[in-house]
Amino acid sequence: MDVLLIGSGGREHALAWKLAQSPELGRLYAAPGNPGIAGSAECVALDIADHAAVVAFCQAKRIGLVVVGPEVPLVAGLADSLREASIPVFGPSAAAARLEGSKGFTKDLCTLKSIPTARYERFSQADAAKDYVRREGAPIVVKADGLAAGKGVTVASSIEEALAAIDDCFGGSLASAGVEVVIEECMTGPEASLFCFCDGDRAVLFGTAEDHKRAFDGDKGPNTGGMGAYSPSYLMTPDLIERTMAEIIRPTLEGMREKGAPFRGVLYAGLMLTEEGPKLIEYNVRFGDPECQVLMMRLTSDLLPVLFAAATGSLEAVQLGWSPEPAVTVVLASKGYPGDYARNTPIRSLPETGKGEMIFHAGTALRDGELVATGGRVLNVTARADEVAEAVDKVYALVDRVDWSEGFCRRDIAHRAWR
Ligand code: AMP
Ligand code: GLY
Repeated sequence: MDVLLIGSGGREHALAWKLAQSPELGRLYAAPGNPGIAGSAECVALDIADHAAVVAFCQAKRIGLVVVGPEVPLVAGLADSLREASIPVFGPSAAAARLEGSKGFTKDLCTLKSIPTARYERFSQADAAKDYVRREGAPIVVKADGLAAGKGVTVASSIEEALAAIDDCFGGSLASAGVEVVIEECMTGPEASLFCFCDGDRAVLFGTAEDHKRAFDGDKGPNTGGMGAYSPSYLMTPDLIERTMAEIIRPTLEGMREKGAPFRGVLYAGLMLTEEGPKLIEYNVRFGDPECQVLMMRLTSDLLPVLFAAATGSLEAVQLGWSPEPAVTVVLASKGYPGDYARNTPIRSLPETGKGEMIFHAGTALRDGELVATGGRVLNVTARADEVAEAVDKVYALVDRVDWSEGFCRRDIAHRAWR
């Protein structure tokens, strides 16, 4: 089967690397891809915002499956355009992608299906939102309703901070993401992520992971897209996983079916493990980045038939195999990220990787044959080993051999695993 993979990050490099190992794969195309993905796929210059062009490419190349990595094309309805043209696609419709595209939509679904989550109110006027914050007090959480590339959430420790976040949302700095805000009770507890493959009816557990969202060691500094991850999450015991499936995931799938928007693709639940049990922080409708990198490192099953089964509504026969070894990934980012950073800085050399090790590319490009850093998050150094501590040692030994003076990383990824 020939496959088209949409995206250009470390998540998509991990997917391309894993798909390329499938005996069922014919040709693998990636749009737009990156220099790492080019090792496993043929990168094509398709405008992924032009759905008609993507459909035409798939028809011309007789693509048997499209795998969509990022959320933006999903929320924009790329999967709908492909399904209308009878092209199997791994990823939800625009209506189902509202689970990530509108926080208010998801919160209302939680109310409808009694899914445990933070208490909340939705507002489309700043004044009413501010009155509510003054009544509720701090700490309190302010969220822009729409997609905001990870920048739409403020966990405010004072009323003033919450009021400023409301002004930010309505003042236009988050553009259309902020035409509505959701204000939530502040929950406390450790966080973990749980991933499920869904075919509209069924949800099959696809592992757990923990991300590190803050830029600097000790969970200090601004929020980022994620600075490192490990899998599995040691917090997610079999009992907590079963509770999450029963109390959060299955009612969500049922609710989406009832709304006429069955969810197909990978559902990523961000969870807070509170004293009362697991509660939903938010959903994403795609793999986490960099969580995908550690999940792919541990998956022993062939990925391609599983993605095809989720795309075509036939997950019932799917069994997944996993390496018992934990995996760790550390993100190398451009100095200054998540703020401004220099572009096109040279990455002079990358170390050779051994068994159970991979360096996934995210924001890289080739300029005159030389590898350069073009994005905020640039490389994901990843390893698997018998113990987490050993995987961490392997990862940092590789990190230390990356010759890129303009990069930085956290030095405490996965520290929570043996705390
Ligand atoms: P998000 O960008 O939606 O993943 O949210 C970023 C982070 O904000 C989450 O990982 C949590 O740490 C935090 N957060 C979001 N909602 C809440 C909440 N209701 N209570 C406490 N922390 C929250
Ligand atoms: N690593 C967090 C995310 O992908 O949203």
